Amino acid sequence: MEFKRNILITGGAGFIGSHVVRLFATKYPDYRIVNLDKLTYAGNLANLKDIEGKTNYTFVKADICDFDKMMALMSQYRIDGIIHLAAESHVDRSIKDPFTFARTNVMGTLSLLQAAKLYWESLPEKYDGKRFYHISTDEVYGALELTAPEGVESPFTTKASSLEHHQAYGREFFTETTKYDPHSPYSASKASSDHFVRAFHDTYGMPTIVTNCSNNYGPYQFPEKLIPLFINNIRHRKPLPVYGKGENVRDWLYVEDHARAIDTIFHNGKTADTYNIGGFNEWKNIDLIKVIIKTVDRMLGNPEGYSLGLITYVTDRQGHDLRYAIDSRKIQRELGWEPSLQFEEGIEKTVRWYLDNQEWLDLVTSGEYQTYYDKMYGNR
Ligand code: NAD
Ligand code: DAU
Repeated sequence: MEFKRNILITGGAGFIGSHVVRLFATKYPDYRIVNLDKLTYAGNLANLKDIEGKTNYTFVKADICDFDKMMALMSQYRIDGIIHLAAESHVDRSIKDPFTFARTNVMGTLSLLQAAKLYWESLPEKYDGKRFYHISTDEVYGALELTAPEGVESPFTTKASSLEHHQAYGREFFTETTKYDPHSPYSASKASSDHFVRAFHDTYGMPTIVTNCSNNYGPYQFPEKLIPLFINNIRHRKPLPVYGKGENVRDWLYVEDHARAIDTIFHNGKTADTYNIGGFNEWKNIDLIKVIIKTVDRMLGNPEGYSLGLITYVTDRQGHDLRYAIDSRKIQRELGWEPSLQFEEGIEKTVRWYLDNQEWLDLVTSGEYQTYYDKMYGNR
């Protein structure tokens, strides 16, 4: 069958990647979607069980660092668009093992870029109609201040805060022109990969695009990250490890809203440009944690406040960035994208999903899913 487009999505068996693959494979039946994933501890084909029978969907188990394999795949599937999400994504792991992050996030991205370059430059039309879209993070910008002006109550104490709220307090945001200032090995590796992507545009004319997004939440997130970890721990009556004083601030975006932004940018974003993606939805960790506790307790039929005692303050993350906050007005203004889900609704859906998908959580937390799904689908 002749497809209108042949799109390679890397990291499609991970958290965000699986939502992007699902969106593209269902919304664009005339596109071939090739999902390339190494299936590390974070990759799980169960995330895509509902779409694996689609005729426009193909899964390939491969490592983006394997340059020869990347070259072979480009021509085998006549790839004309790449959405690159494959990465090591957890900050705590990067603190323990920075080498793996440099290997996958930097060398892996370079291997993919070089394979795309050689393949596209070998075609008569060269870069015409091609796109290399790299998914990055707000963490490359460093950290912002938290302190409210003297005598003013912090807007982070009780609820998520809007852009207007923050502007009233004279707070800063990351914009697309904020200078890179990464602090963790994870963000340093992502910053490096962003630079390589832009270098391939500036040097070879490759039609690249980079977006930097804030913290995603929603179904299929690996339960090492704050929200699924805490939901799962509450269910199992395990301690909830709050780093430091729980004062750090993150901007949370529902994962399907990120996937929609990726769709918008892939199709309509300006080549060589950068877009920030965020929810204007900042929460102090401890306030967010209390919302999670309240929601899980309510859904499990526990009395209000029942699980508050599980909160356990632990040693802070090394180099823990205080606050991330994305100004996403450019994508709103230029491409008309904005988050569709209010946080209250998003967190309800998310908690409900994890409580309803205990088999998924149990398999993932036991590590069994890697052999379980190999047995089910064959070791591809
Ligand atoms: P994830 O850890 O859930 O998934 C990563 C996927 O990449 C996994 O399926 C894994 O198997 C695959 N992978 C890892 N190394 C690979 C390799 N060498 N070759 C091929 N595949 C490999 O990550 P996520 O949270 O879904 O993040 C996806 C992307 O989005 C990452 O690039 C991350 O930096 C970026 N991002 C994440 C967030 C967030 O809040 N999660 C926010 C902004 C940007
Ligand atoms: O900002 C975007 C980034 O968000 C992405 O680029 C990363 O891939 C993604 O992992 C995420 O990074 P964070 O470090 O912000 O996410 P994490 O869920 O690990 O932590 C969220 C906050 O909660 C952070 O301030 C650390 C804190 N935390 C986390 C864990 C796992 C705790 O207090 N206790 C915990 O056990």
